[in-house]
Amino acid sequence: MSQHQTADITQAVLDRLADSTDPRFKEIISAVIRHAHAVVREVDLRPEEWMGAIQFLTRAGQTCDEKRQEFILLSDTLGISMLVVALDQARRSAAALADKTAKVRPTEATVQGPFYWQGAPELPLGADIGKDMPGEPAYYSGRITDTHGKPLARCCLDVWSGNGEGVYDMQMGEEAGMQLRARFYTDDAGRYHFWSIKPSYYPVPDDGPVGDMLRKMGRHPNRPGHIHMMVYRDGYVPVTTHLFASDSKYLDSDAVFGVRDSLIVPYKRHERGAAPDGRVMDKPFHSAQYDFVLAPAA
Ligand SMILES: [Fe+2]
Repeated sequence: MSQHQTADITQAVLDRLADSTDPRFKEIISAVIRHAHAVVREVDLRPEEWMGAIQFLTRAGQTCDEKRQEFILLSDTLGISMLVVALDQARRSAAALADKTAKVRPTEATVQGPFYWQGAPELPLGADIGKDMPGEPAYYSGRITDTHGKPLARCCLDVWSGNGEGVYDMQMGEEAGMQLRARFYTDDAGRYHFWSIKPSYYPVPDDGPVGDMLRKMGRHPNRPGHIHMMVYRDGYVPVTTHLFASDSKYLDSDAVFGVRDSLIVPYKRHERGAAPDGRVMDKPFHSAQYDFVLAPAA
């Protein structure tokens, strides 16, 4: 019998996986089939609506190029990227999270976003990566430890952000090259410090199909001001995260659902004069302090 009734078509499709030899693929695609069929049934999907969805995905693909990834944007704005990040961190840090003798919890992870650029220059502690960029200077400092409070020396802090207007180097045109990004390594006491700018909120690219979707949902495209950090050292679970400026707009409605309370940091404003590292500033500046914690790798 090759003609499937509405009621049994889902099982018929699942049965066709009998010869699939990859168990994990089979598990995932089976769930996709079950949930997609359930959506169609739940909303009694009309043919023209399904064609609209296909055209939306087609446009999303056509919007992608080397610098624009509309599907990551779709995943981010639907909260799927953040969900995957949170589950991954819980899985990889399970031992540290269950360790009753631990003094501090691992730093929470959040989305990587589309602007990470591998191979940022390694700069000495104290360097300024925001020089000559629009924005107010900010001094960043803190320590990196394990979950027992032991300082981690030679731990990499790979940092990137947009300028004070929320624009990333990748959006500045071909000639800009790498800006506002660097890799710093902690000193023997696990400390780091560097200069950049105080980050501003910015919109995710909303001139494509995902922007149309957001408008139809009645949503804005903005992310609160943040600086990205990837923190890693051999023997520890790496963490990709942000620090969010506590006085930024949109903290309660991040377009990609990346905000975690533990990552919101006050930026203290200082008048011009001596900075914490002895540098004399000729204009007002900010300081932000944050201690990162890495979980030991299982
Ligand atoms: Fe960002």
